Amino acid sequence: MASFQSSCTLLGTTAPKPRIPPSSAKPSHHLLPNARRSSRFHVSCSGGPAEEGKVDRRNMLLGLGGMYGAANLVSDTKLARADPLLPPEFTSCGISYVGDDPLDVNCCPPISDVIKDYKLPPVRQLRVRRAAHRLNRVNVAKYKRAVKMMRDLDVSDPTDPRGFSQQANIHCAYCNGAHDQVGHEGLDIQVHFSWIFFPFHRWYLYFYERIMADLLKDPTFALPYWNWDHPKGMQLPGIFDEEDSSLYDTNRNQDRRPPVVLNLALNSTVTDPAQIISNNLSLMYNEMIGTPASATDFMGKAYRDGDAPPTFPDGGTSEKGSHSAIHAWFGDPRNEYNEDIGNFYSAGRDPAFYSHHANVDRMWTIWNDIPADYPKAITDPDYLNASFLFYDEKKQLVRVKAADCFNHKKMGYDYENVDIPWLRSKPPKKAAAANIQDLSKGVKTAEKLFPLKLKKTTRVLVPKPTVGKADEVLVLENIVTDNRKLIKFDVFVNDEDDKPEEVDRAEYAGGFTQLPHRVKAKNSKSDLRLNLKQLYENINIADDDSVVVTIVPLINGEVVTIGGIKIVEAPSA
Ligand code: C2O
Repeated sequence: MASFQSSCTLLGTTAPKPRIPPSSAKPSHHLLPNARRSSRFHVSCSGGPAEEGKVDRRNMLLGLGGMYGAANLVSDTKLARADPLLPPEFTSCGISYVGDDPLDVNCCPPISDVIKDYKLPPVRQLRVRRAAHRLNRVNVAKYKRAVKMMRDLDVSDPTDPRGFSQQANIHCAYCNGAHDQVGHEGLDIQVHFSWIFFPFHRWYLYFYERIMADLLKDPTFALPYWNWDHPKGMQLPGIFDEEDSSLYDTNRNQDRRPPVVLNLALNSTVTDPAQIISNNLSLMYNEMIGTPASATDFMGKAYRDGDAPPTFPDGGTSEKGSHSAIHAWFGDPRNEYNEDIGNFYSAGRDPAFYSHHANVDRMWTIWNDIPADYPKAITDPDYLNASFLFYDEKKQLVRVKAADCFNHKKMGYDYENVDIPWLRSKPPKKAAAANIQDLSKGVKTAEKLFPLKLKKTTRVLVPKPTVGKADEVLVLENIVTDNRKLIKFDVFVNDEDDKPEEVDRAEYAGGFTQLPHRVKAKNSKSDLRLNLKQLYENINIADDDSVVVTIVPLINGEVVTIGGIKIVEAPSA
C-alpha cells in the first residue's frame, strides 16, 4: 500500500526504473552526468531531513486524510482517488516528450540525497514586483545582472541547480513526461490543466526570485511582472527585446516584436489595435469574473495521486485563456515545436516566461480579492497537500506544499498596485434578444453534423434543457486533437452579427487553446465546458428552447474532431 509507506521509503527504495537506461539517454548539454548518476544514487533515509516527510505524510493520513487512509485499505482504485499528488522522484527521471516524439533534450534535475521540508522564512521586508514596462533603470539593470549571473552558472557549473538552464529544465521536467507519479509507472506528472497549476508556478517563481536575489546579494530584489492585462503592457516589454541583453531570446516570433500589440484572442484577422485591445480586456473580464462559477472553474479541476495527466480543458479559465495565449502568441513558428515560450519543455529558456508567469500569479491574487457568489477557497486536503520539489537559493532540495503558498505576502512579496481596466470590461448587454427562428434557418442539428471535423466555421442548433435564462453549461464532447499542434477555436451563441473577430461581444462563449504538449494516453479525449449563465443574461435570451452555436476554427482546426455538443444544467455548487 503505497499510502502507508513513509515518504522516506518511497524515495529510497521503490523508485521505478528510469524509462531509459541512463547510458542510452540522448546526450544533451551538461545534464548527462546527472542522468548517469541516477542509476546509482538513492535518496538517503537515515534520520535527518528526509524523515520530516515521513512524519508529515502520516499526520496527513491520520488527521485530515484519515478517512481516505481507511478507504485505501479497501482498494487500489480508491487509493487513486484519495491522495494528494506526490512530488516526483528526481532519482527516476527519464526522457521527455513533445507529442509522442522523444525530445533530444535531457531535462532531468540534479540529484540530491537530502530533501528538506521547506519552511517559509520570516518576512522582514516585502519584495515588490513591478510592472516590467514601468521599471526604472536601476531595477532593469539588476534584473539583467541577475539573469546574466544565472547564465554564467550554466558555464561555470552546469550541475548548479541555480543556473539558467537548470531553472528552465524544471519546467520541462514537470510538464513533458520526464517523471512518472511515484508508485504509478507510466502516469506522468503534469503541472498544467488542473488545480495545481497556480501553486506549482507560484513556488517555481518564488525560488527563481530568491535565487536571483541571493546571487545579487539584494534581499529586496523582485521579479518584474509583464502587465499584459493592461493596454500599456499589451506587447513584449522592451527590456526583453534588446538583442545584446541577458533578457533577450532569439527564439521568439519575429513578427510579434514590440510595438506589435498582443492579441489574446489569437485571431490574426483582427488588425485594428483598438479592436485587439478591446478584445483583450473583454477576454480578461470573462476569464476572471464572468465565466467562472466555482473555484475550480478558475483554478482548474482536481488532480490527485494516481490520476491520468489532465488535459487542456481541465485547466482553469485564466490558464486556458490569457496564460496559454501568451505562450502561443510569442512562440517561434520557425521552430518545429514553437520553441521557446510556445512549448512547455522550452518555455523556461525565455526570460520573458518568468515575467509572464509573475503576471499569471498576480491574476491569482486579484481573483482572490474579487467578490463572487461562490466560495473561493478549495479546502480539499488533496489540493492542500499536493507537493513539489525544488532547489532553493542555497542549492538545497526542498519539498513544498500547495497550502503553504496561498498567502503571497507570507512568502515575502507583493505586486505593485496599478489600474486594472478589465474590471470594467464586461461585454455590453444586448438590448434585444436574437430571433431564433431567423437565426436557425438552414442550421443543422448535432445529429446531422457530429462528429465534426473542424475544417470550417460551423453552426449547429442545440436544444436547451430549460427555456430562456437558466444556469446551463455548453459541452463540446470528446474533442480529439493532435497534441503536437497549436490549436485555437472560438465559440459563439446566437450570434446574429457573425463577427468572429470581435470577442468583446455578449455572444462570445469562450475558446479552446491547446499548446503542443504531451499526453501519454494516445486517445485521450477531452470535453470543453463553457458556462452560459452570464452569456444568457447578456444576450438577453428570449424564452427559447434551443440556441445556435457557432464554432470558429482559428488555428489548425483541420486536426480537431469534436465528438458531440449539448447543453446541460450547471452542476449544483
Ligand atoms: Cu508551466 Cu505557462 O506554463
